[in-house]
Amino acid sequence: MTTTTSPDTFPNGFLWGGATAANQIEGAYSEGGKGLSIQDVMPHGIKTPPTDGPTPDNLKLEAIDFYHRYAEDIALFAEMGFTVFRFSIAWSRIFPCGDEETPNEEGLVFYDRVLDELEKHGIEPLVTISHYETPLHLARNYGGWMSRELIGFYERYCRVLFERYGERVKYWLTFNEINSVLHFPLMSGGILTPKDQLSQQDLYQAVHHELVASARATRLAREIMPTAQVGCMILAMPVYPLTPDPADVVATMHTAHDSYAFGDIHCRGQYPGYLLRRFRENGIELEITDQDREDLTHTVDFVSFSYYMSSCETGDPARKVTSAGNLLGGTPNPTLQASEWGWQIDPQGLRVVMNDYWERWQKPLFIVENGLGAVDELVEVDGTKTVVDDYRIGYLNDHLVQAREAVADGVELLGYTTWGCIDLVSASTAQLSKRYGFIYVDRNDDGTGTLQRYRKKSFDWYRQVIATNGGSLQ
Ligand code: BG6
Repeated sequence: MTTTTSPDTFPNGFLWGGATAANQIEGAYSEGGKGLSIQDVMPHGIKTPPTDGPTPDNLKLEAIDFYHRYAEDIALFAEMGFTVFRFSIAWSRIFPCGDEETPNEEGLVFYDRVLDELEKHGIEPLVTISHYETPLHLARNYGGWMSRELIGFYERYCRVLFERYGERVKYWLTFNEINSVLHFPLMSGGILTPKDQLSQQDLYQAVHHELVASARATRLAREIMPTAQVGCMILAMPVYPLTPDPADVVATMHTAHDSYAFGDIHCRGQYPGYLLRRFRENGIELEITDQDREDLTHTVDFVSFSYYMSSCETGDPARKVTSAGNLLGGTPNPTLQASEWGWQIDPQGLRVVMNDYWERWQKPLFIVENGLGAVDELVEVDGTKTVVDDYRIGYLNDHLVQAREAVADGVELLGYTTWGCIDLVSASTAQLSKRYGFIYVDRNDDGTGTLQRYRKKSFDWYRQVIATNGGSLQ
């Protein structure tokens, strides 16, 4: 395990908890008046085309049944001492098709209940408004975020959420990993056109619509909930040059711009020069209205991000490899080990990315995803079923130590939510065997299992970390 060089600890009031997304935990895909979302037709993750409708092999249709078991699950989070819980609201529970005038009351009531439960345990909610869950109707009938009309539908959805939950929810995230739309237009942008048939023009127009929608949500939040904090959410993956060759360094800069652009726009309120240049040189002419420009000036209060891994970049096509990774992948770093799913593990990269974002944007940061997807084995220890997940403890410990280093470097960090604090369905592969949780859920890739919950060894470890505000880290 990495050792810390700093005695500093996390700030007082630091928010500790875990993160999830509706489509990966709730199940009940057709209950409570919910409409279909794109996830309901993505049974095998991001690598295969969508199906015509829900199919029995789609684990997300039942997921881990949080829809019916939320009280039990939140009680377990409370037992670990969570002070924050990140979850997303399923857009298609509130607006089943996405383009209706009035919301579905039953869907709103479900989240009232979730918030009641969190309040009961003194856990602060952190709400993602859109986490890879575009209503399917919007994908099929409007072309997803390629259509400007989605800005209005999203704004209406946000208004409903802010008016209903505004007094109870302080922290909001507009779009999960918004930069991933460049790589996975279906999951992130509700665009059914296969990526290889999608023009850069249409893709960047969709990006633009999401960015405007995000900015409008921020403005609306300030009108309706003056004390709310709105953040963007970026898939953070630091890119290192594969060699000291300046050509590798320049290639690295270009790749890094793909992600920076989203933070730059959210934090500075306008398109950066390097992106305008890319548009010019590739014949991309976006429709950007004066109103859009004004909307974009409503910048976020904080920057949240997911961090799992880093990657390398090279200017030499012969050396470029796209390995497995958190959606983006990249050329493997010869100095790092990878997880069972090929994601390169790099705790120090977290410190690097935190310093980098802080220096670039000067906005408080929030780590809203970090964790290790691994195969777990349920075993019996002293008569109790558990998972001895020392590998997960090691991963989280080492990342938290580096987060603490970044705090000691002067980075302002609001909180930390581990990804998949309870086992859930994987976004990229749609498996349940890729487990992240402190809580084991008895459900297998073939759909069998009792759905019963079990505390893993990491459950007690995290409780201790929270109780000591990070003091127990090694
Ligand atoms: C992030 C997503 O990309 O990584 C989550 O925001 C996802 O939805 C997480 O689950 C881990 O990825 P995966 O593919 O292992 O589920």
